[in-house]
Amino acid sequence: MNGIKIRGTGRGVPSKVVTNADMAKIVETSDEWITTRTGISHRHHLAEGETITDMTVLAARRALENAGVTPDQIGACVVATLTADTQVPSAACRVQRELGLPHDTVCFDLNAACTGFLYALHTMECLLGASERKFGLVIGAENLSRITNWADRGTCILFGDGAGAVVVECSPAYESIHAFLGCHGTDEMLRVPGVEKGVPSLVYMEGTKVFKFAVEAVPYCIDQVLARTGKTVDDVDFFVFHQANARIIDLAVRKYRIPQEKYYKNINEYGNTSAASIPLVISELHEQGKVGPGSRVLVVGFGGGLTWGGALVEFA
Ligand code: UT7
Repeated sequence: MNGIKIRGTGRGVPSKVVTNADMAKIVETSDEWITTRTGISHRHHLAEGETITDMTVLAARRALENAGVTPDQIGACVVATLTADTQVPSAACRVQRELGLPHDTVCFDLNAACTGFLYALHTMECLLGASERKFGLVIGAENLSRITNWADRGTCILFGDGAGAVVVECSPAYESIHAFLGCHGTDEMLRVPGVEKGVPSLVYMEGTKVFKFAVEAVPYCIDQVLARTGKTVDDVDFFVFHQANARIIDLAVRKYRIPQEKYYKNINEYGNTSAASIPLVISELHEQGKVGPGSRVLVVGFGGGLTWGGALVEFA
């Protein structure tokens, strides 16, 4: 089986910065509560005139430049999102048009909520194995400020907007990313209604219940990926976690005794950006030189669906 490796990364970050003090003008909250309970100090929201398509295309363009890959080399483009500007055309079709990807590029969006980027990476590995062109664009992009319930202080302080992208290369010489993905279908504790009549399509989340799910899902995914790849924690160069709450990451780090130089948190800067959170981390790590050619990165995601996933991803 062909495997994939990351060749380049990029991100598109909205210009409007919303601080915790700004949030305290909307709901009864405080910088102290938000920072200690979540690790968030501010988040980015789309400014007037900006669209999530702009951010998605920017992230993809930067990832291509960073990889030294041209649009005509791309065989597939998958965007993980639940908040594309339009349902049709998909975000991926908009990227095709803006970047001039070849017309026979496979382009579609995928929704697995906060685990979406991992679902998209796995999907890309399967797609590129059957493609004549060996490069693919995997993007996570969200405009969560559009579906935020601004009357609910338990959720509105959490979410941010943004997009992150990677260019992956497929080769029979590469190991599979050994993606481990799962789902337990329930809308009890986390949902965005969407199609229900008369119900505003805003995020509903029972945070404490989701928190409990997350602290079990993260070690489960780490264990599954290590078992499937025959690796140990020491074999992993870097751990990338979905940025939902700094406390969830801290618990995992403590459990596996992961040294400080092997994990990263940027939730303070972005909040929870759902499908965009993992590629935003990967892109910053790559830019800072913390990961690069040969790095072996264990990626873990979890979220609505409920969904969860992990994979061991290498850099080319
Ligand atoms: O992206 C993947 C899916 N999402 C997650 O993984 C999110 C997981 N959950 C969480 O991150 C946390 O549960 C939250 C940050 C959402 C909430 O933190 P918590 O420690 O679970 O707080 P809580 O909901 O149990 O609320 C504790 C108290 C309550 O007050 P009382 O009833 O004890 O008086 C809330 O009303 O904190 C209150 N509260 C707030 N106070 C100030 C809730 N939100 C706020 C707020 N500011 N923004």
